[in-house]
Amino acid sequence: MSSFTYLISGASRSLGLGYSRALLASSNNVKVIAGARNPSSADQLQALQKEVGKGRLYILKLDVEDASAVQNAIKELESSGFLEAGGLDALINNAGVAVAPEAPSATKPDLVMQNFTTNLFGVMNLTSACLPLLKKGKGKQIFGVSSICGSLGGFFSDNSLATAYCISKAALNMYLRKLSRELESDGFTVVPYHPGYVKTSVTSGQGELTTEEAVKLAVDNVILKVSKEDNGKFYDYNGKIVPW
Ligand SMILES: NC(=O)c1ccc[n+]([C@@H]2O[C@H](COP(=O)([O-])OP(=O)(O)OC[C@H]3O[C@@H](n4cnc5c(N)ncnc54)[C@H](OP(=O)(O)O)[C@@H]3O)[C@@H](O)[C@H]2O)c1
Repeated sequence: MSSFTYLISGASRSLGLGYSRALLASSNNVKVIAGARNPSSADQLQALQKEVGKGRLYILKLDVEDASAVQNAIKELESSGFLEAGGLDALINNAGVAVAPEAPSATKPDLVMQNFTTNLFGVMNLTSACLPLLKKGKGKQIFGVSSICGSLGGFFSDNSLATAYCISKAALNMYLRKLSRELESDGFTVVPYHPGYVKTSVTSGQGELTTEEAVKLAVDNVILKVSKEDNGKFYDYNGKIVPW
């Protein structure tokens, strides 16, 4: 039986590591390419690779902010022999940062740029580098780990918190929505989703869900569930529509 291969950015720890582990556990046919900025210090990812084997988990050195390094990483992947028939089935754009919880009046352009560099430009770099591989794959799925913070119609737009981060996730949503329209005729499913308020370093350990709980919900209700009809929709970890 043929395999289904995911590439997950920011898989060194927290949600990205959890998605890698849970998707590998979901079926023996699943393979994962786990992107990490510093593979040698990603101890939990290395341990997961020992558990499942190098045939199912490929660790790729990947900093999404550097466009040419991203292109080189994808070239390395193409020549590695890990991809079945040279194709990638799904991309999970998970790597992200939340720089400074400033109010709008205190938010300076360079703070916005720091959030944009990873949360928007990083996703654009990786997505465009992966598109040729995704077009050769069977799955044709692109996920963006977005946030309720980027929803203009959601509760987070009614407070003055984390302005630069919120703007970056709103921009990410627009990018993915437009991408969903561009790629619809090629059979793609492009889905941004809110992963929950999760106790990780992005939230300084605050949150409503543990990483394990949030991973299980998003994997069951979004990642393994979506079909082509979901192209261009914005979901939360419960599989409920989030307003743009
Ligand atoms: N936790 C929440 O409540 C929550 C809510 C809404 C949305 N999100 C989103 O969920 C995603 C994952 O967040 P998390 O909670 O798991 O955060 P986290 O614990 O801070 O982990 C972030 C991950 O992203 C990686 N990363 C950061 N910058 C990168 C870059 N330039 N290139 C490649 N990897 C990079 C980190 O790698 P290193 O180990 O190298 O630092 C780490 O693996 C983010 O997009 C975040 O915005 C989280």
